[in-house]
Amino acid sequence: MKKSIYEQEGWLLSPEVLGEELIAAVTGRIEELSAEDRPEVVYEKGTRTVRAIHGCHLFDDLCRRLVRLPALLGLAEELLGEPVYVYQFKVNMKQPKEGVAWPWHQDYSFWHHEDGMAADRAVNIAIHLDEVHEKNGPLRIIPRTHRLGLLDERVGAGGGDWHDHVSADLEYTVPDGIADALADEHGVVHATGPAGSLYAFHPTLVHSSTDNLSEDRRALLLVTYNAVANAPERLSRPEFLVSRDTTPLTLAAADAL
Ligand code: SIN
Ligand code: MN
Repeated sequence: MKKSIYEQEGWLLSPEVLGEELIAAVTGRIEELSAEDRPEVVYEKGTRTVRAIHGCHLFDDLCRRLVRLPALLGLAEELLGEPVYVYQFKVNMKQPKEGVAWPWHQDYSFWHHEDGMAADRAVNIAIHLDEVHEKNGPLRIIPRTHRLGLLDERVGAGGGDWHDHVSADLEYTVPDGIADALADEHGVVHATGPAGSLYAFHPTLVHSSTDNLSEDRRALLLVTYNAVANAPERLSRPEFLVSRDTTPLTLAAADAL
C-alpha cells in the first residue's frame, strides 16, 4: 500500500510520528554539532548563520543509531525493496528570519551528474525537528513529477565545488518556467506538520522551499538511503556528502534511542 502510493505520487507521508523525547535528543545533538567549527557545517552566504550540517551519521553515535530505526530504515527498505545504506545525511536548519530558500530542483541531478549514480533507486526520508508551518519555509513538492526524468539545467559554474550543491545558488535547478507549468498541472504540496512528522520523497521529484520569514526555526533532517546495488563508483565529493560505506544497514530496535 505504502509502496504503491509512493510510486504513484513520488512522495508519502508516514503514519508514524517520532516521539518528543527522541526529537528533543536529536535536535539537541544537532544544535551542539552545528555550533562546532567543522567542515560538515555550511553557513548562509556571507554569514556565520548555520544553513546545514552534513554527514552526522559518520561521526555521531546518536545519528548513527537514528538512521537504523524502523521508522526510517524500514520505510526506505519497504519503498525500495532492496538492501540499502545511507548515501547522505543532512539537517537543513532554516534559521528564523535568516534561513534562505532552495530553488526548484531534483536531488537526483546532483547524485547522477556529480557522483555518477546510475539509477534513481534511492529515497529521501525527511523528519521535522521543528514544527513546520506555512511561514517558516516548508518543503514544497510537486507530486508525480518523479516519473518525468531529469528536467534540470546547469546554472552553476560547473567547477566541481561542492558548496554549489548545498547553497541557495544551486548548481542544477529546474527552470522556473518548467516548475510553474508542472505546478499548474499537478498542484504543489506544502509539507507542513508537527515536529516528529516523517515523510519519504523520490530523488527525481521536483521540490523547493522559500526563505524563512518567521520567528520560528525550521530544522529538517533528511536521510537519503540508496540501494546497495546502486552505489556509485565516482567518489570525488567529500565523504560527508557521499558516504563511502555501502554495507547494507540492519534494523535497530524501535526503542534503540
Ligand atoms: C529544504 O531544506 O527546504 C530543501 C531541502 C532539499 O531540497 O533537499
Ligand atoms: Mn533537494
